[in-house]
Amino acid sequence: MSHFPKDFVWGVACASYQCEGAWNEDGKGPNIWDDFCHDVTYEYVKNRDTGDVACDSYHRFREDVALMKAHNIQVYRFSISWARVIPDGEGEVNEKGLQFYDDLVEELLANGIEPWITLYHWDLPSALQNKGGWLNRDLVEIFGRYAAIIAERFKGRVQRFMTLNEPQCIAQCGYQNGNHAPGLKLGEEKVALVYHNLCLAHSEAQRRIKAICGDDVKVGAVPCGTLAYPETDTPAGREAAYHASFDLRQGWNFNIFLDSLILHRYDDSASEGYKRFAATIDPADWELMETPDFLGLNIYQGFMVDEQGREIKRYPGFPLTACKWGITPEVMRYGPQHIYRRYGLPMYITENGLSCNDVVYLDGKVHDAKRIDFLNRYLLELGKGIADGAPVLGYLQWSFLDNFEWSEGYNERFGLIYVDYRTCQRIPKDSAAWYAKVIETNGESL
Ligand code: BGC
Repeated sequence: MSHFPKDFVWGVACASYQCEGAWNEDGKGPNIWDDFCHDVTYEYVKNRDTGDVACDSYHRFREDVALMKAHNIQVYRFSISWARVIPDGEGEVNEKGLQFYDDLVEELLANGIEPWITLYHWDLPSALQNKGGWLNRDLVEIFGRYAAIIAERFKGRVQRFMTLNEPQCIAQCGYQNGNHAPGLKLGEEKVALVYHNLCLAHSEAQRRIKAICGDDVKVGAVPCGTLAYPETDTPAGREAAYHASFDLRQGWNFNIFLDSLILHRYDDSASEGYKRFAATIDPADWELMETPDFLGLNIYQGFMVDEQGREIKRYPGFPLTACKWGITPEVMRYGPQHIYRRYGLPMYITENGLSCNDVVYLDGKVHDAKRIDFLNRYLLELGKGIADGAPVLGYLQWSFLDNFEWSEGYNERFGLIYVDYRTCQRIPKDSAAWYAKVIETNGESL
């Protein structure tokens, strides 16, 4: 029996830079990922791949929406390229850029698919990076204005907005590890400042969207991290997994962003740099923080702990994805429960999926049994988590199409639909038909 409630929503997700292409068409301004990929001094992205063409969704979105419809997709979460709409991020609006998203929204609605908008999936207009990027607090207001422009345009047509995709990646990959644009390697206090500005930017955008669209429209934050699951499903095991999930020494946590945004504090396990930064925060800033209406959880992998909260080392030959992430379906059962216990908000899974080196077989089809098995396992565990009491209202698979996987370039494929990057031809994989059936039966077919 399926544990998915009757009104559970099923969909797919993608992001502008990863699929649109058309990087310099119709008045679009450059963004930090254009710059990062085009950098001639350093190979930031494997194989020097770029998002210049990607899946060419800018020109082929009608074909993509038709494919979504054919596969029963109910929700499409996509992101807006800020520099397409406002080329320098804060000045004149580029009507042609805005019209592209208008056409996409109309196409989705005409096909009975709900458009969900992410405002920012990492592609900051270059002009704003030149002003310091997210280290500059002025971006809070500038992001708020951009959010208001989008809200005005899509009011009445879009019911779910998400502000910033994965603040953890923005801050830690972009400003600390340097493996994502803008490629900086800064110390902890600066990274903490980026996080702080992102909390304020989320909040400003949420206030502006709600003021324009009204309270029925819901605004979410989309964090990520690695969550723990228990070796033994006992009260002690669950308790240990809960605490291990939010221990910041682990380094890749949901709470580094959400604790400040929602609980207005830093966890005791925060390192010295964060604590030093926290001591400088003006208490009035906490009053500016808005609790999101919902959380969008991007969950890919977790780690197992014993009843003492000690991580259990993975055994030799542990199942891995193409990008060497552990296949750990249990995180889908326990992760949302941990998040709900700490923040008490309704949730959607806004991303989950498998990277694979899919190939076209001799019969012209793409047989991705591994992806089907991965999704099946994760969804069964999600069902158990919902039965345990986690209010997860929907699930969005990452990603509908194969696409540009950031610093990994085109090496890895996450899609339900294969993309031949030489021609941009789309070929539905076996998993696409499988997922269509899951949606049709609201999870009974799992
Ligand atoms: C990001 C996506 C990315 C996916 C797989 C998430 O961190 O939001 O943009 O493609 O993970 O790596």
